[in-house]
Amino acid sequence: MRILAICGSLRAASSNRAALEAAVLLAPAGVEVVLYEGLAGLPHFNPDLDDDPPPAAARLRAEIGRCDGLLISSPEYAHGVAGAMKNALDWLVGSLEFPGTPVALINTSPRASLAQAQTRETLKTMSAAIVEDACIELPLMGRGLDADGVVADGPLSAALRAALESFVLATGGAEAVSP
Ligand code: FNR
Repeated sequence: MRILAICGSLRAASSNRAALEAAVLLAPAGVEVVLYEGLAGLPHFNPDLDDDPPPAAARLRAEIGRCDGLLISSPEYAHGVAGAMKNALDWLVGSLEFPGTPVALINTSPRASLAQAQTRETLKTMSAAIVEDACIELPLMGRGLDADGVVADGPLSAALRAALESFVLATGGAEAVSP
């Protein structure tokens, strides 16, 4: 089972990236969490190019086609969805690969509720299958933890592990998390 993880922050010391890198380390046996590294290189979405997308957007669509689920962790900027994240979603709106994709959301900043709500609305419009049991708040903001720090923190790693297991169960990978 393959889960694609997209971080909406391009910041080197990103807490959202730390959460997703921790998910890579905590993935249940038989589950591969793969970080999408192409966000910064995606051109701005242009509907004129939807049918014949530029290579970076085509690669993103192919990555979605290869995965069994999508894990998103993205910051809120000025009460909205981070532009880089929204741009990636816009490239997926018209794609054949995206509809029905199971999605889990991680929010590393509990005070950032507006962007989460907007992302959910966008994902619903795109016919994503949001897996509620796998959507969590992981309070990392201001803690300066990297992925190893998240894994070493008992409550944080337990919450992340439980979310991953719920996600895998909901997306049909029960054998990967059965005892
Ligand atoms: C922010 N941040 C922020 N937070 C929030 O809850 N609501 C907001 O409207 C904003 N707006 C905002 C604008 C700008 C320009 C910056 C740089 C930051 C804080 C931001 O979401 C927070 O620092 C995240 O933790 C950043 O995520 P990474 O980079 O650590 O993954």
